[in-house]
Amino acid sequence: MEVLGIDIGGSGIKGALVNTETGTMLTERFRIPTPSSRKPEEMAEVVAQIVRHYNYSGPIGVGFPSIVKKGICKSKGNLHKSWVGVHVPELFEKHTGCPVVVNNDADAAASAEMAFGAGKDKKGLVMMVTIGTGLGSGAFLDGKLIPNFELGQIPYKNYDKIELWASAAAKEKEMLSFKKWAKRFNTFLKYVELITAPDLIIVGGGTSKDWERFSEHISIETPILPAEFLNQAGIIGAAMGAVQL
Ligand code: BGC
Repeated sequence: MEVLGIDIGGSGIKGALVNTETGTMLTERFRIPTPSSRKPEEMAEVVAQIVRHYNYSGPIGVGFPSIVKKGICKSKGNLHKSWVGVHVPELFEKHTGCPVVVNNDADAAASAEMAFGAGKDKKGLVMMVTIGTGLGSGAFLDGKLIPNFELGQIPYKNYDKIELWASAAAKEKEMLSFKKWAKRFNTFLKYVELITAPDLIIVGGGTSKDWERFSEHISIETPILPAEFLNQAGIIGAAMGAVQL
């Protein structure tokens, strides 16, 4: 099935047409910066712009950077607080005129890696961690998604949540070297290990493309792999979510 997948992030909203049977992207990725307000209507308009860019009509699968339960945004994540309580598919349907399915962004990325990438045929607890504006987590137990794991929300030192200290956004804001930042990320991974005892950790999100630059500073016991689709896992997995339509 050919589906438009859209991955919504704190800094960019990205889309591509995806073949959901093979997990391949059929077009170049198209990216528009996330509006700085990070408010619902403005972000929905960017989603509509992406749909128009591809002259697309049909089902849309969206990866969304917060807890999504039955379509409803349950936490603000790194977005504007007015998102909480919004029925996200309904809002995007209003702006695009297409049927929309919305899942958490890290759950979407993990779905792509489990089906076609680093998690293929892997049993036990596989934890995908995405590094971007926040730290996302997508958990699969024996091949089945456990939705809305929020490991980036663990409080740490003076920070409300560890993602404010160890995400790609923190690296950029504090101009940290890969080495300095990777030490923080490693601390995060140690918590992931301690709290969830996973069998495999897959590292995705924008920063996973730099895996070679920071992997030497990662020292955990759990086997760890970079995402095969790197940051594109988010778009591919988002599209896969729309197959139910
Ligand atoms: C949100 C998660 C999301 C992650 C990555 C966090 O702020 O709470 O739901 O997966 O950012 O975007």
